[in-house]
Amino acid sequence: MKKLIINGGKELTGTIKIGGAKNSVVALLPAAILSDGKCKIYNVPNISDVHKLNEMLRLLGSNVEYKNDEILIDNKNVKNREITKEYASTIRASYYFMGALLSKYHKAKISYPGGCVIGSRPIDLHISAFEKMGAKVSIKDTTYTLTAEKLHGADIYLDFASVGATINIMLAAVLADGTTHIWNAAKEPEIVNVASFLNSMGAKISGVGTSAITIEGVKKLNDGIVEVIPDRIETGTYLMIGILLGKNLVIDGIIKEHLEAVITKLRETGAEFFIKNSKIYVSKTKKLNGVNVKTLVYPGFPTDLGQPMSTLLTQCKGESLFEETIYENRMRHIKHLNSMGAKILQFEKKAIIKGKTDLAGRNVIATDLRAGAAMMVAGMIAKGTTTITNIEHILRGYENIVDKLSNVGADIKIVDE
Ligand code: EPZ
Repeated sequence: MKKLIINGGKELTGTIKIGGAKNSVVALLPAAILSDGKCKIYNVPNISDVHKLNEMLRLLGSNVEYKNDEILIDNKNVKNREITKEYASTIRASYYFMGALLSKYHKAKISYPGGCVIGSRPIDLHISAFEKMGAKVSIKDTTYTLTAEKLHGADIYLDFASVGATINIMLAAVLADGTTHIWNAAKEPEIVNVASFLNSMGAKISGVGTSAITIEGVKKLNDGIVEVIPDRIETGTYLMIGILLGKNLVIDGIIKEHLEAVITKLRETGAEFFIKNSKIYVSKTKKLNGVNVKTLVYPGFPTDLGQPMSTLLTQCKGESLFEETIYENRMRHIKHLNSMGAKILQFEKKAIIKGKTDLAGRNVIATDLRAGAAMMVAGMIAKGTTTITNIEHILRGYENIVDKLSNVGADIKIVDE
């Protein structure tokens, strides 16, 4: 089992380069199946989810070449095959093969998706949308079978602005007969990234980035090309570390517009940093004040940064009120932060975080990807040594964490025990 060992308190100087967005690339790879030609995806992050999805593409007969940060995909030998539990259960994003295979072959057989244990994570919005477009869906044990004589355009109103459902509906709609409207669509930047990839293949999608998306079905999709947008969650995580430990730290390769809520909220704590073009310049802010944080769908404060933010709030003077509104079980990092000396009172999906508290290194667990990130931030500032186990969760969403952090002065390593 891999463990992360951090000796905290080191000053961080130098440049951290931001990689491609996990929550984009995990949709772009399944989307590539829709092309009858060749696809090029670049600025791909070196994370384990990419390797798992490449395996699934190869299972379907796709020829996948992954070199440096580029993936070349050739679908000339692609066939429709079942995505079994051994693959599907490893990541949440495996469910994008439902929309892609149903769209291309009018049949998909796939086991229930995996993903972080941060809630029940149903896929009812995906399934009901596919049914509205003409699919028949049956479930046996944990395997979904989706079939359709043909898929037709539909008017789909999402009860919740679900990222996954919005993308999966786009995948199903691009080759359907007629036009599909998605109302109350999610507006995350990753959705815009996926739509630009599909449009590069010849799809006709408009309105992405707003809550009303229109997809006009086309007959065929050809060669595609896309650059993965920078990971706004990785950016926010390193910015928080920079606010706590930086000395002229530079975070390079960001898109400011994707982080407005995070930037505003961090500035509200009194954190000082400035942004020029695609770089953030940040040094440690000595006096931080508590603020209230509530996670929301985009463009609100992202749920994926709620956990690392709660670590930063332990260093803010006064009381902060933190509320998670997207998932029902995304507070499991709190007891580990308290074991390090934090003073956090949790009431279901809300917490009162008292600061400023000194954190001491402890043995803690990464219960899920972003809880792991919260523990990494805590270990970076804690006095002494912090050992984080179950870091496979962290490696799913953060590329090359040891290189990126040790290159700017952190004392951090991965051991395999
Ligand atoms: C994506 O998950 C991301 N994962 C999540 O990131 C992110 O937290 C989330 O979007 C919100 O931004 C990937 O892109 C692989 P949702 P997704 O559908 O698509 C409920 C990370 O840490 N819901 O917007 O699963 C659901 O239970 C991960 O990088 C339904 O009720 O998110 C949740 O409460 C974690 N029915 C809420 O909506 C459905 O059919 C948000 O889900 C679908 C979702």
